[in-house]
Formats: sequence, C-alpha cells, structure tokens
Amino acid sequence: MVVSENVLSPSVKETLSLQHSRYHASFYGGTKIFQKIYSQTQELANKIFHCSHSIISPLSGNMAVLAVILALTKPDDKIAILPLSAGGYPINLEFLYRKRVNIPFNLDEYNIDLSTMLEIIAQEKPELIFLGSSLFLFSHPVQPIAKAVHEYGGIVAYDGSHVLGLIAGEQFQDPLKEGADLLLGSTHKSFPGPQGGVILSNGFYERELEEVIGAEPLEGIVLVDNIHNSRVAALGVAFEEFQHFGRNYARQVVINSKTLAQTLDSNTIPLHGKSNGFTESHQVIMKVQDFDEGAKLRDVLLDHRIVTDAAMRFGTAELTRLGLREEEMRIIGDCISQILRGLFKSQKLEPNVLKTINDKIDSLINLTQNAKL
Ligand SMILES: Cc1ncc(COP(=O)(O)O)c(C=O)c1O
Repeated sequence: MVVSENVLSPSVKETLSLQHSRYHASFYGGTKIFQKIYSQTQELANKIFHCSHSIISPLSGNMAVLAVILALTKPDDKIAILPLSAGGYPINLEFLYRKRVNIPFNLDEYNIDLSTMLEIIAQEKPELIFLGSSLFLFSHPVQPIAKAVHEYGGIVAYDGSHVLGLIAGEQFQDPLKEGADLLLGSTHKSFPGPQGGVILSNGFYERELEEVIGAEPLEGIVLVDNIHNSRVAALGVAFEEFQHFGRNYARQVVINSKTLAQTLDSNTIPLHGKSNGFTESHQVIMKVQDFDEGAKLRDVLLDHRIVTDAAMRFGTAELTRLGLREEEMRIIGDCISQILRGLFKSQKLEPNVLKTINDKIDSLINLTQNAKL
C-alpha cells in the first residue's frame, strides 16, 4: 500500500530486462532502432496525455523536477512550492541557489489556500510555481493560479508524480488543459510503468528543456547523457497497455480509496480530507503528529504484512491493479483499524482476533497472486 509504488505487467517487466548495455545517441552506430522506440513512446505519451511534446529521458520524477528548475530558472529566482508539512516535494532549492516561496495550505480542506496564494503571487511574482505534491488527495486550483502567474510571465509546472496514472486515466484534473505550462512526474506511482520520469507540454519551453534533458542534448550535457533504452521501451509498452485498461483502473483506484477511507473513518481512525470526502486520488492519509509517530504505526502494520510509510499514507493503486475492489478495501480497512485501535489502547490483540486478521490477509495475498496483468 505504498503510495509511490505499483506493479508491472509481465510484458513491461520483460521489456525492462532487454538492451541494458546499448547506447542511444545517433553518434553511435546501430542506434536507429532506439531512436525509433523513443519517438514511438513519445507519440504514445502525447496521445494519452493529450499534449504535443514529451520528454521521456528523465530517470526519475526527481530528475524531471530538477530539469525544469535548471532549464527555466536561474540563481536567485523565486520558486513557489508547497512546504514539506503540506506534502510538498522536499527538493533542496537553497542548494540550487533558488529562493523558496512557500505555497499556503489549508489543512482542513487539505488543499492550497487559494486566496492567500493569489496575494502571495501578486506580491512575490515567483518565476516558477510547482503545483502538485506528495500527500495528494484533491485537485489543485490550477486555473486561477495559472491565470495570475501568466499575467507577469511566470511559469506553472504541475508535479503530477503521484497522480500521473489518474490523469492518464482521465479520473483527476487535466493540468495542461487547465493552464499549467508543464506536467511532469514519475512513471511508476499511480501510473503502472517502469521507474522513471516524464515532462509533458504543448511545446512551451521546449528548447530550454531539450538543452538540459533532451533525447540528444543540443550542446553540452547537463542531466542525462545516455538514455536507458530498456526503460524507455518498457514505458512504451506500459503506455500501449494502459490504453486498454487505464480508464477503468484509474476509476476503480479512486473508488477503492474512498471505500478504504470510509471504512477507516467509520472505525474512528482520524483521516485528513474528511470535510471534502476524504480523497479523490490513490491516497488515503491518516492524521499523525509527525513522521516519528507515523514510523511507529508503519512498523506495527508491517508486522501484520500491511506496508505503508511514515506519513501514514495508504495507497490503493497497486492493490487495484492486482484486482482488489470495494469488498477487499473494507476488509483491509477493518484489519488496519483493529490493529491500530489495539495499539492506541495499549492492548495486545486477542489471539483469536490476531488469527482472523492473519487469515484475512492470507486470503487477500492469495487473491492478488492470481491477478492477470
Ligand atoms: C511530488 C513528488 N515529486 C517528485 C518525486 C520524485 O519522484 P522519483 O521517486 O520518481 O524520483 C516524488 C517522490 O515521491 C514526489 O512525491
């Protein structure tokens, strides 16, 4: 249930294991095939994300974020991003000599505080704004922010690392349509592809980005030299397959998250986003004091073979891909609740309760092992 992870289909896995030692650039002989695979994978990305340009060479979402910063800002520029406490991605801007502007967050709504954000934009005029986050429950207000930022020539990049599979399956906001200049992210979280990153757009800042991280850097290498052909080919296979199952998968991911959240809430487990219906994504987030408390709860759940993280985010993407539906979400929600409630009351679980939980988890694991991917 780690929100950043997913499962690969047999074809994606097989493709990932090919061509490891080959180079990509046209400088080398025998590489035409890899350039063809790259451009075919780009075409699939453009089709799925309804855009005209895609850069698929980043080795991770992190590198996509870094490429955008290096290509589109210079030292001392201001970059607006959510703080870590609001689930913002903890990129080290100070290390890059960029100035941080914190995006204000309304914890009750579990979303950006739009009116304060618009005031900050008017005052600070950050050169670059990152929307999107790591603790991501609800769509961000892209449209009004993009309108305000574009008035003074700023850039809006939407970090869809977490929700890329939901965007691809058209079950979350469409950031490019709503006015973001760039959509970037990881290809392995809610999107069930190989580990890697993408930057998608309708052609804005194409030249600047290509210089930093293009398939064949125009001049001077910055972030990627040799492209990992196996990863690109596997991404192409993942895109191709996603066209057939992606929409239903993404729809079920959201249904499963909501079902899990409702089950946990009815068992008095405190969750974020309650006033907005808990979640519209692949995540359900429990309220914890800090990552130390979260780590303790994570470890207790791990002892029962339920894998989460120290932010106590429960992810439904991988389980959905493995075929689990509402009924199983209710079972999982009940198991988690029993384990945590026992912990809160400092009570050891009765042996018969423990056995029931174990049996249920055994049967869920059996179910996932029969999944046809
Ligand atoms: C919002 C966000 N952006 C970027 C990243 C980095 O992604 P990757 O792990 O693909 O480098 C993460 C990682 O979890 C993230 O949460």
